[in-house]
Amino acid sequence: MAAQGNDAPLVEVRHLKEYFPVNTGFFKTTPLKAVDDVSFSIKRGETLGLVGESGCGKTTVGRTILHLYEPTDGVVVYDGKAVVGPKEKVDIDKFATPADGGSLKGNILSLNEYRTKTTMVFQDPYSSLNPRMTVSDIIAEPLDVHKMCANAQEREERVLELMNRVGLNSEHASRYAHEFSGGQRQRIGIARSLAVNPEFIVCDEPVSALDVSIQAQVINMFDELQEEMGLTYLFIAHDLLVVRHISDRIAVMYLGKMVELADAAEIYDRPLHPYSKSLLSAVPIPDPKIARANKRIPLQGDIPSPLNAPSGCPFRTRCQYATEACAASMPEFKEVEKGHFVACHRTADINA
Ligand SMILES: Nc1ncnc2c1ncn2[C@@H]1O[C@H](COP(=O)(O)OP(=O)(O)OP(=O)(O)O)[C@@H](O)[C@H]1O
Ligand SMILES: [Mg+2]
Repeated sequence: MAAQGNDAPLVEVRHLKEYFPVNTGFFKTTPLKAVDDVSFSIKRGETLGLVGESGCGKTTVGRTILHLYEPTDGVVVYDGKAVVGPKEKVDIDKFATPADGGSLKGNILSLNEYRTKTTMVFQDPYSSLNPRMTVSDIIAEPLDVHKMCANAQEREERVLELMNRVGLNSEHASRYAHEFSGGQRQRIGIARSLAVNPEFIVCDEPVSALDVSIQAQVINMFDELQEEMGLTYLFIAHDLLVVRHISDRIAVMYLGKMVELADAAEIYDRPLHPYSKSLLSAVPIPDPKIARANKRIPLQGDIPSPLNAPSGCPFRTRCQYATEACAASMPEFKEVEKGHFVACHRTADINA
């Protein structure tokens, strides 16, 4: 976990939506709302953990923030500038605030420049590396794309420096990815991500495919790299202990919506949303006294299909506290205590 940077957000996500058109019949498509009106921000030097059940939209949030998917709506403001791709059609001024002077149009970051500041580390170190390229070429590919090296010697020196930085033996630069173990492959993926000297990295389940013994080494490396390079992370993981270890703050998603966000310790000790209460009650606690007191709250039923999400609050069909109000409208995602955001009509009653 990094020391917190200053308080100005590096990444601001405003009302982000990502809808995928899905064929649901003869000449009929229905929008699958993978991410549905999500807003949050990440401070410079901070790690924001992102958790939630499989299919709730974590990867889609990460990819859409980086504009690997074109947002259906909403805007990402990076270091005060709106990120806009060349063909993107969202009216970004819908999301301008008084702090932007009411308009974002004069303050735009091109996608090309954004790509030199941001990057992604993928879950699967086996399929994310091209088997026909040497490690050296894999790591140097982003340098080539962005024409960041003046000549071959500079390129080689940069590759060797990156390999050293992630703990790989630079003598192995001419080998192929399949000659490495899972942990080493993930290091290659990380070296490649660091090539452009990014400030912000979306880490999408970067240790989930690794042996438990290797996971800790790679997690520690993320910590060290953050310290050395002042990196900012969005860290997606389903292992709640890993997330707790690495995150400064944690966000919880459910069916395309953000339901809770707070400091890591706060959300584990005192989750306010009924979904977070269930999810986090499954985390093993090393202290037996606390562990006995901390009862598990099982989640009932299955997560509904995002093609057919419940009206109002998406969690209401599995929530023991749900009332008619929960079916009528989606609760606002609001700050109920300093730095603690929650989207639940019944927070005040159930946490009284
Ligand atoms: N390219 C796509 N086309 C259509 N639907 C998609 C696409 N990518 C994701 N989805 C759907 O969007 C929803 C969210 O998927 P996403 O991969 O973001 O979830 P996730 O939280 O990352 O899940 P996991 O924990 O399994 O990785 C799912 O219902 C998924 O089926
Ligand atoms: Mg995912």
